[in-house]
Amino acid sequence: MDWFYSQPVDIYFGRGKTEILPELLKGFSKPVIVCDSFFEGTGVLERIRRLTGAAAVYSDISPNPDVSEVNRCSELLRKAGADVIAAVGGGSAIDTAKAASLTAEDISEYHGTGKAVPGTHLPVIAVPTTAGTGSEVTCVSVLTDRSTGRKAPINSDSFYPAAAVIDPELTLTVPPAVTASTGIDVLCHAIEGYWSIGHQPICDALAVHAASLVLDHLPRAVSAPDDINAREKLAEASVIAGLAFTLPKTTGAHACSFPLTAIWGIPHGEACALTLDSFIRINAEDPHTGSLARKLGFGDPQLLADHIAELKKRIGLRMDLADLRLNEEQIRELVQKSRHPNLLNNPVEVTDGMLYEMYKRLSKIERK
Ligand SMILES: NC(=O)c1ccc[n+]([C@@H]2O[C@H](COP(=O)([O-])OP(=O)(O)OC[C@H]3O[C@@H](n4cnc5c(N)ncnc54)[C@H](O)[C@@H]3O)[C@@H](O)[C@H]2O)c1
Ligand SMILES: [Zn+2]
Repeated sequence: MDWFYSQPVDIYFGRGKTEILPELLKGFSKPVIVCDSFFEGTGVLERIRRLTGAAAVYSDISPNPDVSEVNRCSELLRKAGADVIAAVGGGSAIDTAKAASLTAEDISEYHGTGKAVPGTHLPVIAVPTTAGTGSEVTCVSVLTDRSTGRKAPINSDSFYPAAAVIDPELTLTVPPAVTASTGIDVLCHAIEGYWSIGHQPICDALAVHAASLVLDHLPRAVSAPDDINAREKLAEASVIAGLAFTLPKTTGAHACSFPLTAIWGIPHGEACALTLDSFIRINAEDPHTGSLARKLGFGDPQLLADHIAELKKRIGLRMDLADLRLNEEQIRELVQKSRHPNLLNNPVEVTDGMLYEMYKRLSKIERK
């Protein structure tokens, strides 16, 4: 088996590690903060301002950021003459910062068009506040174009941050529902990175480590938000899962999440997890998927799928689409819009018929 591995992002991890920002910003004169709006008016933003010496802050960022938000952020960066970006927030803020680092007039040029992203960009220092997307170490920026209803990732080496500073203390304020959704996203990254047709041994090992951490610590982080040990383990899982899926890329569950989020507003991680156990069953005959189940301590993939379904229930994530009362046309739209290229990374070929059956089953299940 031939394979390739590369990871260009410097990673700093630890409680209170945010204090390293001044050292990382040495040599830059015009830092700008791009941060989640949650931090406006909080002590965290004041602290980041003090640590970075940034004169300007861009924080008009919604979950699943829109291309228009990236364009406004780019404009601010140009006006401020920024020479580096401190990106502080969940995946939405970090992805906005990465895309805006190109300082392009209109990011839509590169969103879903296949046009090559320029190599020149501002360096980004990513400080994640959710655990999470792993965006701090990935070469992906996921954007939505609300004018067309399209949500899609842009992949480019230009989107690797210069450095990632992971401080688990920043995740202590994440509310339980967001902890559940972002935490299960980590599990999807690990599992999908593992079984992707682009998988390779380094990413496999990282994926198993990250998935085990989520299975062990996510319920506690949801039920006891102040438990810094659980938060730290999830932050570790998040960055390591980011490393595990960047090169192999995600597969079926992420492909299906894009329309579930863009059309139905289901949060990213929850949308990925909705179909994760279905994809484990779809991929059950793939020997590599079998090996993942065993490495995670389950006799076979069906038992892993059962466990994940149980975990979703326990942490309050949606189990089905019954409440949406989807009609035939809406189910067919989900099938059609789930045909994202990531689906081609799935180890088992996924037909429209399989997607239709899955969505139909998820739509019909009655809540108990
Ligand atoms: N770039 C990548 O590699 C990658 C990978 C997976 C997903 N994504 C994308 O990232 C986005 C999702 O990111 P996310 O799951 O981190 O959620 P998010 O960034 O959208 O944040 C979710 C919510 O949590 C709040 N929040 C963030 N940090 C907080 C904190 N410390 N305390 C309290 N509240 C806080 C935000 O205000 C928001 O309301 C989606 O667009 C998804 O598609 C990107
Ligand atoms: Zn994800």
